[in-house]
Amino acid sequence: MADQPFRAPKGTRDILWPDSARWRALVDLFADVAGSAGYLEVIPPMFEHVEVFRRLGEATDVVRKEMYSFEDKGGRTIALRPEQTASVVRAFAEHRPPVPWKAWYAGPNFRYERAQKGRFRQFDQVGVEALGPEDAHLDAEVIALAWRFYQRLGLRRITLLVNSLGSTDDRQRYVAALRAHFEAHLDALSEESRATLDTNPLRVLDSRREADADLVAAAPTMADHLGDDSATHFDQVTDALDALGVPFTVAPRLVRGLDYYVRTTFEFAAEALDAAQNAVGGGGRYDGLAEDLGAPPTPGVGFALGVDRTLLACDAEGVFEAPAAAVDVFVVDATGGNLAVVLTDRIRLAGLRADRSWDDRSMKAQMKAADRSGAALAVIVGDDERDNGTVTVRDLRGDAGQEAVTLDSMIDTLRARLR
Ligand code: HAM
Repeated sequence: MADQPFRAPKGTRDILWPDSARWRALVDLFADVAGSAGYLEVIPPMFEHVEVFRRLGEATDVVRKEMYSFEDKGGRTIALRPEQTASVVRAFAEHRPPVPWKAWYAGPNFRYERAQKGRFRQFDQVGVEALGPEDAHLDAEVIALAWRFYQRLGLRRITLLVNSLGSTDDRQRYVAALRAHFEAHLDALSEESRATLDTNPLRVLDSRREADADLVAAAPTMADHLGDDSATHFDQVTDALDALGVPFTVAPRLVRGLDYYVRTTFEFAAEALDAAQNAVGGGGRYDGLAEDLGAPPTPGVGFALGVDRTLLACDAEGVFEAPAAAVDVFVVDATGGNLAVVLTDRIRLAGLRADRSWDDRSMKAQMKAADRSGAALAVIVGDDERDNGTVTVRDLRGDAGQEAVTLDSMIDTLRARLR
């Protein structure tokens, strides 16, 4: 045996019950919300040829610093997916399903990040991607879907920031203007931001450094560089969000950490979390990505929500709580026969959750186990019950007491009491 117990690698963790039950409930709820809008599940592989992810942007942290890439035994360079949009769009390019193609997904992603609360190296996302239409109302549908999902979870303190990065041309003009602005004041810029300026001028807007604050505040905004088409598209998105009653703030300096975005971008922040890790989801349009990955030019829009962080936000707001009990019924069998085997099976077949204890424990020990299980009801069989063909149904949580019922009416009694 090892001297020390093994531990999960840094940046990963085990999700044990009851958190795992809540996790599954979150994904089920997401499937319901996405399904209600015609999105169908897609399950892409967890690793891809590394080139698929290079499209996220050579200058982004995700690609430059955080990718888990390696050569496999066949000499291919493979990367664990740092996100799923590129995988889903690669799947679109490969299979060419008819458009509009509306897909949802859930699953883990891998980024070599500095691990801390709310920032993991393996983290889960749920998300949607919609390929085909350029329609601004699709952007609004996608944003509203995420909003409705947060509402269904019970979260109330989520803020939505939206921005437009314009078309590829608009964006190039904007990046040139930004570069000129910062280069004219290089001396006043922090050293880190000077390095960022070389590789990715947009990211300088993201600087939280005190030294950069004035220059960032004075930087030109994307809004002033939007072409007519992009401006109209953005107006339609915000009008539709207004019509849907989804509250948002236009954030002209919102930049996202991935490079494929054009036009609409958005982010959801949980006010109940620390500012450094309060982004619970984000997304936007990526009209050039499908073409980059080998499909005919096909616009796309989507989002991904971080499951880990969303659940932290639920904790902070005291909503979407973990289930209190793993089972409904606990069978206590003091006869030492096979009644516990048969009764648990019968209860499970009736669609109720049932468990029992093992290793011939005493009646007292079994009753303790029943209490610990969190079950609402115990089904107890002793010698008398066995001889009479009855069981005793006992309330474990309230004050409804106990009653002896025949084996035939056991299920009806359990159902009635659990209601
Ligand atoms: P992202 O902003 O990189 O976008 O990630 C979306 C969400 O995933 C974040 O808001 C955050 O909640 C969660 N997340 C990211 N990194 C971590 C981490 N290290 N630990 C915990 N949670 C994390 C995307 O991934 C895009 N694919 C979104 C998208 C879909 N755009 C268009 N379609």
